[in-house]
Amino acid sequence: MSLSLPDSGAQSTPDGRRHAPSAERNAGPILAVLQRELPPRGRLLEIASGTGQHAAQFAAALPGIDWQPTDVNPENLASIRAWSALPNLRAPVVLDAASPGWAAEWRPLDAVLVVNLLHLIAQTAVETLLDEACAALVPGGALLIYGPFLRNGRATSEGDAKFDASLRAQDPAIGYKDVDWVMGRLQAQGMMVVQHDLPTNNLLLVARRT
Ligand SMILES: C[S@@+](CC[C@H](N)C(=O)[O-])C[C@H]1O[C@@H](n2cnc3c(N)ncnc32)[C@H](O)[C@@H]1O
Repeated sequence: MSLSLPDSGAQSTPDGRRHAPSAERNAGPILAVLQRELPPRGRLLEIASGTGQHAAQFAAALPGIDWQPTDVNPENLASIRAWSALPNLRAPVVLDAASPGWAAEWRPLDAVLVVNLLHLIAQTAVETLLDEACAALVPGGALLIYGPFLRNGRATSEGDAKFDASLRAQDPAIGYKDVDWVMGRLQAQGMMVVQHDLPTNNLLLVARRT
């Protein structure tokens, strides 16, 4: 199902690069956390790369990270490819992170990054994504999850409540997930989780495999 989202009208440049304003706005704060949390060298899988803006900007700023962009939608790969050619940025490939079994194909990974996806998929899909990501990491590896969350079952602003309601109206199975539920699921896998508060009420959870 194709969702109507604030960034659904992402603009394309003549060379095929699509542009999502949200990815431009949140890139700086996310990168600041990545620079603190990622090792100087390592292999990172990005889930749901979307337009490819983050992959291009983050891989350029983190030259020791071998960056693998992916997305479930094959139509996104051309834009991801068009954004950048860097020695540490791999060609994008299709990956459905909600499909059981992908960890076996991708491990060992030093990091997995997922930005603005958990609220767009069902809880069972999030469970699979989290379990597979944890299983794909090396000991000490990190799963980094950015996005909007419920706190104690509630949205943190009127805008978040409206967006969450608009998602549930489009598909009752999707919508914001509660941060405690996500953290509990990760801790049950033996992950140590740290929460970073980022602008506009969004969080970046860093779950490290012990
Ligand atoms: C809101 S966009 C976020 C894109 C990018 N991470 C960003 O922040 O700009 C959501 C993305 O999730 C992708 N997606 C949806 N379901 C997915 C799944 N099951 N596995 C991987 N990617 C998925 C969509 O194709 C879309 O590119």
